Amino acid sequence: MAIYNLGSINADMIYRVPHLPLPGETLACTSLSRGLGGKGANMSVAAARAAARVLHIGAVGADGAWAVERLLEYGVDTRHIARATEPTGHAIIALDDTGENNILLYPGANHTLTVPQIEAALATAGPDDTFLFQNETNAQAEAARLARGRGMRVAYAAAPFDADATAAVLPLLDLLVLNEVEAAQLAQATGTSAENLPVRDVVVTLGAEGCRWHNANTGRTQHVPAVKVTPVDTTGAGDTFTGYLLAGLDRGLPMLQALALASRAAALKVTRVGAADVVPDLKEVTEAHFGAL
Ligand code: RIB
Repeated sequence: MAIYNLGSINADMIYRVPHLPLPGETLACTSLSRGLGGKGANMSVAAARAAARVLHIGAVGADGAWAVERLLEYGVDTRHIARATEPTGHAIIALDDTGENNILLYPGANHTLTVPQIEAALATAGPDDTFLFQNETNAQAEAARLARGRGMRVAYAAAPFDADATAAVLPLLDLLVLNEVEAAQLAQATGTSAENLPVRDVVVTLGAEGCRWHNANTGRTQHVPAVKVTPVDTTGAGDTFTGYLLAGLDRGLPMLQALALASRAAALKVTRVGAADVVPDLKEVTEAHFGAL
């Protein structure tokens, strides 16, 4: 059992700011740091930290060797990460003192993936494996079709939200993960609520309120509460949630148990500044003590 994750790899440039910049404002930051990020890389690290076998499918530029090395150190199989002529993707993240952020993305090498590269990466995958993807690379629909063709479980995090990209892959999915805002955007684009989509399992994350899970086979929607934390940085919390969820399902946890674990992991992540570099490991997640809600 393994998770094949087609995903972005970014250098996250984190600028601490007194408040998020307003349109037209020039704002001095109080510090700058660089970390490993990208929704894909964050999910791969989270799934690996949660004890899954993870193969990352992606690309970096000539300036991205450090990112690949770091993924490897975090337990991710990096053999399917290509070297592109484009520079490695990066994100400019403004982070304020309340833990809120805004993010500018430069896709770079993340948009240079080829179908033969993905086909080669999936050559050993089968029905016991999971294919995971999000919207920060190219070739998502082609890749999802290849994964389907191999009988894999197909899971998708609809972020950053793109109505056309999401609509194109909906019929190929077993599991869809999205946040409340993305769920509202999808409902507006498709005219269908998240619960009525043609996808077996739909998970809508609700931030501090936890998440809700709808299963099309039973027709039931269940709510999983979050644990209480004081956030310092929400960057990558959703990615941590998704990586942990997929790792839990991959090792056979029932959905509600996997969701509870994913919620705890995401809660712990928001108490730390950074993305992939600060994703908690399984021991930290299971042993963490959280305040009462
Ligand atoms: O979800 C958080 C991630 O979004 C950051 O790590 C950044 O790289 C962007 O991809």
